[in-house]
Amino acid sequence: MAGFNASVLEAIGNTPIVELNRYGAEVSPLLLAKLEFTNPGGSMKDRAALGMIEWAEREHQLSPGAEIIISTSGNLGIGMAMTCAVKGYQLICLVDPKLNPSTERSLELLGAELVKVDERDQTGGYHLTRLKRLETLQAERPNAIYLDQYDSPAAIEAHRSSTGREILEQMDGRLDAMIMVAGTGGSSMGVARWLREHSPATRIWLVDEVGSLALPCSEAPEPRFLNGMGTSLEPANYAGESFYDFIDEVVYIDAGKAITAATEIARSEGILMGGSGGAACHVMRETVAPQFDSDARLLALIPDHGSRYTQTQFDVEWLESMGISVPALTSPGHS
Ligand SMILES: Cc1ncc(COP(=O)(O)O)c(C=O)c1O
Repeated sequence: MAGFNASVLEAIGNTPIVELNRYGAEVSPLLLAKLEFTNPGGSMKDRAALGMIEWAEREHQLSPGAEIIISTSGNLGIGMAMTCAVKGYQLICLVDPKLNPSTERSLELLGAELVKVDERDQTGGYHLTRLKRLETLQAERPNAIYLDQYDSPAAIEAHRSSTGREILEQMDGRLDAMIMVAGTGGSSMGVARWLREHSPATRIWLVDEVGSLALPCSEAPEPRFLNGMGTSLEPANYAGESFYDFIDEVVYIDAGKAITAATEIARSEGILMGGSGGAACHVMRETVAPQFDSDARLLALIPDHGSRYTQTQFDVEWLESMGISVPALTSPGHS
């Protein structure tokens, strides 16, 4: 086998799992993190993007120059833009003001066209406004194909057969608990499917942001702040009633706790993850670990890197303007 890849797309996957021994020093099970930011587009959504484009190629026989529309909070956009650049498709991304400036510029640099909405919907998010704008966009671009990440068996399958399989191989088949975060449901429902098929004893936790309406157990909507996490509607990916066949426990977390955990892990482990990864790690240490013995192995899926959020989630002024308190960020140095 050659020591190089035919394109960047072959470099997707095979992300490392790392022990969080310092962050987890006070709890007895082994805490582990799968670092999806080592994917070439910087997040786990590279896997979903490639899976969705390959599905569209089979379903619609895409030819070079084909137009693809997606609605994205950022990371799927980067994965899609990367894939479309390699394959010669034109990507149109529907985005909203939660998109951080560096991701916006990255999308443009990768050749994507951006269409922005800026009004909050009735739930306090932008998801419903994006869907409304989608209708007019589809009328304006009749030849473009809309790929819906909220209802995407291809995204679920990509995570089932790549992320899920990889996890059990890396863990030698022994994993006591898996902790993932909720967004469109592609990653969690895909990984959960593989684990149910091949490791039914693994208990599965799903973490969502307070105020999200993503899951069947969600309550009242509230403004949300963590990129990629939470939705203003329940995505079809969560499979309605069969949701609880795949997910054992749901935990809600506020943005302050998630960002505090990400900050603590950056200083103690040298791993700078985004706020959604912080949410998964906070729940792994505070909620899941106390339920297991010292020989247990717990794994959190870390969606992306924190460097994307230096002007938002990790910026003290931005946090204050959103009314979020993260005392760890105002005390520099090691905790
Ligand atoms: C940073 C981040 N965290 C979490 C998620 C949620 O993942 P999923 O959409 O697979 O549920 C996403 C999805 O875009 C994301 O970008």
